[in-house]
Amino acid sequence: MSEKKNEVSRRQFLNYTLTGVGGFMAAGILAPMVRFAIDPVLKATSGSEMSPVVDVSELSNEPQRFDWTIEQVDAWYTSDVTKSAWVYLDDNDEIVALSPVCKHLGCAVNWAGNSDYPDQFFCPCHDGRYYKDGTNVPNTPPDAPLDEFELEVKDGTLYLGNPKPRGEA
Ligand code: FES
Repeated sequence: MSEKKNEVSRRQFLNYTLTGVGGFMAAGILAPMVRFAIDPVLKATSGSEMSPVVDVSELSNEPQRFDWTIEQVDAWYTSDVTKSAWVYLDDNDEIVALSPVCKHLGCAVNWAGNSDYPDQFFCPCHDGRYYKDGTNVPNTPPDAPLDEFELEVKDGTLYLGNPKPRGEA
């Protein structure tokens, strides 16, 4: 009689078994989903990293366009992205690195891109213009100055990060 009391009933056995198997299966399904969901948070992105762009000795007072490639991590997708900057030395020999992306609708601006304005950046899409320091010329389509890149110089090399908007002109 007492032996019978210690036995696991069929109902209890089924409960234990189904709970165990169900929990194991749920963990097996949920663990990868949770890992997948938070994976980008666990990885450091290269978005804010500084990239070597050019030897400082190559810079002059004339804006030059430099291109470089970064590895961009966008959630679960990694791709190579080419970035560009117009870089020059200002009157105090300070480095200026401007984004080529027009603040009107995003076309690419060119230094001296219009022979009528040889000392300005010109956007061919809607005749947008910017002064050499990146400030938008009043009464042209852009309503803000060109973004400026974060920059630093290490061992004679110019490193650029992300372009940052400046105040309204
Ligand atoms: S996109 Fe540059 S002026 Fe319109």
